[in-house]
Amino acid sequence: MGEVIAWRAQCPARTAAPAENRPVSGSRISTRTAENSLSGTRSGAKLRGVKIEVLVNSWPGYRLLDSGNRRKLERFGEVTIIRSEPKAWWKPALPDSEWKKAAAVHEDEGREGKWRFKGAKPADWELKFADRMKFRIKFMDNSKQIGLFPEQSPHWKYLLENPPAPVNGEKPRALNLFGYTGAASLALAAAGWQVAHVDASKPAVAWGRMNQELSGAKDAPIRWILEDAVKFVQREIRRGAKYEAILLDPPAFGRGPDGELWKIERDLPPLLDACRQLLSDKASLVILTVYTIDASSILCQNLLAEMTRGLGGKVSIGELAMKDEAGDRLLPLSLWGRWTRG
Ligand SMILES: C[S@@+](CC[C@H](N)C(=O)[O-])C[C@H]1O[C@@H](n2cnc3c(N)ncnc32)[C@H](O)[C@@H]1O
Repeated sequence: MGEVIAWRAQCPARTAAPAENRPVSGSRISTRTAENSLSGTRSGAKLRGVKIEVLVNSWPGYRLLDSGNRRKLERFGEVTIIRSEPKAWWKPALPDSEWKKAAAVHEDEGREGKWRFKGAKPADWELKFADRMKFRIKFMDNSKQIGLFPEQSPHWKYLLENPPAPVNGEKPRALNLFGYTGAASLALAAAGWQVAHVDASKPAVAWGRMNQELSGAKDAPIRWILEDAVKFVQREIRRGAKYEAILLDPPAFGRGPDGELWKIERDLPPLLDACRQLLSDKASLVILTVYTIDASSILCQNLLAEMTRGLGGKVSIGELAMKDEAGDRLLPLSLWGRWTRG
């Protein structure tokens, strides 16, 4: 599934390693001398090194067949689709004839775009992850999203491979903000967390519940909450709620269920401050994903270091990318930061 296949920066963080030094295939690459911790006193902290890990989807349920001309040719299970991809600036590797075989193409037309199908619209279908999670995939008239962000799969794998210790004899508590159709919530629950899943979209929350049923996890402790993320966190602070893990995957721009405006550059720092108040003294995990095109994963490092100051632990950062099979290159999709206590 997800694997670390490259790393590329050492302090000073401004200089990324030259492209020819970045391995782009193979399995786990050793990390040489890089270290992510801040050492020293608060006033005199020394940044010893920043390692940027690229986590790559290697889940057979999803394949990126090719990319280029700001589009991607993808295969979800047995269904091949084309969608726009602002981060694919290069040329496609496959000829047009291969791209023309796609069953569905999403065209950026009007506000929401439009799906065009080669033949009949494919019926909804299912994808399995690690034999523990199942997702329903479907085409919707008003979105190019089809129910899953497969570049997130290294996070699901990490969660499944790092089950939490019980807290006072109970499952520890995880909060998944901006959770969409629940992939990370299902991974958290499968790993042994009790989960509060928050999203502003009614269809996404209903879809998450459906994915829970499909996964055969009907009784897993997941609370599905339709709510603005900021309002929910503020209410949890007032209630004195605590969590041992918080995941956040905020969009650049969004709306809460009552039209509350979300703008990442304005709203993320105060939301992280508020989330800090929800971390219990046994907290062990924070994962932040950002896919704003003009940000850097070093921004995740700085935000998470600020959020968890005084708690110990360490911050890891990097990018989420897809292996483009025909082009033998990586398609960068998101930035991530992870704070862990252990
Ligand atoms: C990028 S998606 C998250 C993807 C998800 N982590 C996954 O891997 O499946 C962003 C989500 O944020 C939700 N959202 C946008 N604005 C919100 C807000 N103000 N409060 C809560 N959720 C919001 C959207 O409905 C959408 O489901």
